[in-house]
Amino acid sequence: METDKKYILVTGGAGYIGSHTVVALIEKGFTPVIIDDFRNSNKDVIQRLQTITKQEIIYFNIACQDQPRLRGVLEQFPAFGVIHFAADKAVGESVEKPLKYFDNNFGSLISILELIQEYNIEKFVFSSSCTVYGDPEIIPVNEESPVSYNSPYGYTKKVCEEMIEQFIPSCPSVKATLLRYFNPVGAHESGLIGEEPDGKPNNLLPFITQTAAGIRKELTVFGDDYDTPDGTCIRDYIHVVDLAEAHVAALESLDDSKDNPVVYNVGTGKGTSVLEMISTFENITGKQLPYTIGPRREGDIKEIFANTDKVNQKLNWKSKKTIEDAIATAWSFEQYIREKRSKK
Ligand code: UD1
Repeated sequence: METDKKYILVTGGAGYIGSHTVVALIEKGFTPVIIDDFRNSNKDVIQRLQTITKQEIIYFNIACQDQPRLRGVLEQFPAFGVIHFAADKAVGESVEKPLKYFDNNFGSLISILELIQEYNIEKFVFSSSCTVYGDPEIIPVNEESPVSYNSPYGYTKKVCEEMIEQFIPSCPSVKATLLRYFNPVGAHESGLIGEEPDGKPNNLLPFITQTAAGIRKELTVFGDDYDTPDGTCIRDYIHVVDLAEAHVAALESLDDSKDNPVVYNVGTGKGTSVLEMISTFENITGKQLPYTIGPRREGDIKEIFANTDKVNQKLNWKSKKTIEDAIATAWSFEQYIREKRSKK
């Protein structure tokens, strides 16, 4: 058993947000222990994390519901915190396969909470989403805004939050933080880790970069008849490196308020439209992006962005990076991935 290090169990640590958080943890002196079954992530992310951090990365190919093996990991690396990213996250797929989402997203959380109780783990950070605000009437949304859901995926996030709320009174020694992410974008400045969708991307920025790289013929803008200044939907795009740092801030927080779990919006507080994303991409890369205007996508909401006062004040965290930086790094990452695949 090794005890001189500040171990943090990171479930889904090889995924998009998880991998950036692993880097942020190491920069702040923590020792992440990755648990990932690589169902939706790439095994060589581990090697790339080693290149970025110049450190041996501790990782285990284990599913969150495999408690016997997770116990083995926790015996060897007594973690004082858990950051739980591992979950299925595609809105469209969740409509087709809701039971897959219930099984994985609920089952993994239950398994992890049981282990938190068993091992007296002090800190728990849960990956939630602005999807819990459904289609909000009042914008920006704050943490008190009404919650609902638009898809089985959104339902799992809402119910997981409620499960944590119901669990904490039975285990008050753990301090839980629910981070509601807005739209994560961008990549690490090294260009080695980023959003790496399997097949056709669902999210806007990977679709843009794949289109510009010639992998997709054109981007379809899902509707330009919304009641917004340019007619396209508005989202709060948060740089993944900033988002990763919010997890470290949550672990380091000395906030002793009675709120347990404590909930934070993690966004920039600024809304950007789809057409603004496209024009910023074109300005930064000097590439013309082929796109057409198509019908609205089912389930899309018109507009959402965050009120970030609470996270700014209580966690002393603020987004620092710009959309331009997110687009530039996502574009470098796209080129890295293309080059890598072309060598295979
Ligand atoms: C949604 C969820 C978010 C979740 C994410 C996971 C909500 C409010 N948000 O984000 O919580 O983490 O899915 O995937 O439920 N767009 C196009 N063309 C495209 C792709 C996207 O025009 O080819 C537009 C969309 O209409 C939307 C914007 O780009 O306006 C962003 O879309 P996307 O990246 O898919 O994210 P959300 O749907 O906002």
